Amino acid sequence: MFASRQLTFSARRAFSTSITANATKVAVLGAAGGIGQPLSLLLKQSTLIDHLSLYDIVNGLGVAADLSHINTPSKVTGHVPENDGLKEALTDANIVVIPAGVPRKPGMTRDDLFGTNASIVRDLASAAAQHCPKAHILVISNPVNSTLPIVSEVFKKAGVYNPRRIFGVSTLDVVRASRFVSEIRKDFDPSTPISVIGGHSGTTIIPVLSKVQTSQKFTQKEVEYLTHRIQFGGDEVVKAKAGTGSATLSMAFAGARFALNLLEAVSGKSGIVTPTFVSLEADPEGGKIINQEYDNCGYFAANVELGPEGVQKIHPVGEISEFEQKLLNEAIPQLKTNIQKGIQFVNV
Ligand code: NAD
Ligand code: LMR
Repeated sequence: MFASRQLTFSARRAFSTSITANATKVAVLGAAGGIGQPLSLLLKQSTLIDHLSLYDIVNGLGVAADLSHINTPSKVTGHVPENDGLKEALTDANIVVIPAGVPRKPGMTRDDLFGTNASIVRDLASAAAQHCPKAHILVISNPVNSTLPIVSEVFKKAGVYNPRRIFGVSTLDVVRASRFVSEIRKDFDPSTPISVIGGHSGTTIIPVLSKVQTSQKFTQKEVEYLTHRIQFGGDEVVKAKAGTGSATLSMAFAGARFALNLLEAVSGKSGIVTPTFVSLEADPEGGKIINQEYDNCGYFAANVELGPEGVQKIHPVGEISEFEQKLLNEAIPQLKTNIQKGIQFVNV
């Protein structure tokens, strides 16, 4: 499912010409943060990227100067708000990754971040709609269930909306699922992806453990343990970091993996399917099925096939266990509330 990160020269050239004749430019907004720095480091190692453009309201220049000494082919530029820095960072970008915003402290929910992060994401999305309207936008900032609809609404208002190119990054849930399963089933390769659907917060995160292939079937007790750990894995890290932030390193790993998967798919590599939180308008056929089954939720972390235009196909949920079905049905009202909150924020 998740493909190798190396591309042939011809595939790489195909990517350059499929979007723009220029070099492949990836912008990271919030690049000096806990996620932004290791994410940028991982992206600097990729030969799929020609230009890494790093923007932050503080220390964007320092992080860029540091990374620019690494002897891989990509060029690195740093940008801060002064001198039209955001415009410079975004112009000609093919992919924009957004980890800008504040992280949780113990006792907070992701929704508690809305008051600060909604306007940060709205303003950055607005700049992207203006300076790189055709770029693929990858939203990491929480609460993703709400910030992704915010980006969509901003792009709609600017008249440049393409739901196939706007993604909420829920890859960390997949990464956790694979890792946690491998800890209780030694025959399970932790690099094997597991489908995690719904949304990205607490009980809206639904791991589809019934589809996981292991030599020994999970007991119901194991299913409940794994499901809870995957749903609340973020809290584990927030608690351990004791007020200094949330997951950064594992998130950087997950974010880089999703961005590189997308780069490969845009380059013409087929068959890359991964869960990501998207508008169901991105694939009217697959999206319609999910909307019909799940109360017109509008957005969903579905198994998405990535392609040259971004979302190629949204896979319906398909057959899941009774336990998973119950969790999903219970999650939909919460998910819809989060989504509406994001939509309304832009449209008041
Ligand atoms: P952080 O505080 O370490 O870094 C955030 C960075 O954003 C800072 O460098 C800050 O200067 C910058 N920033 C703030 N406002 C900005 C703006 N207007 N423009 C550009 N940059 C701006 O936080 P972090 O640990 O990197 O987390 C960032 C976000 O990612 C949080 O909202 C967190 O909840 C979220 N997160 C999401 C996932 C996920 O799975 N999607 C996982 C982990 C964290
Ligand atoms: C995570 O899943 O680790 C992130 O969404 C950060 C958080 O607040 O838990």
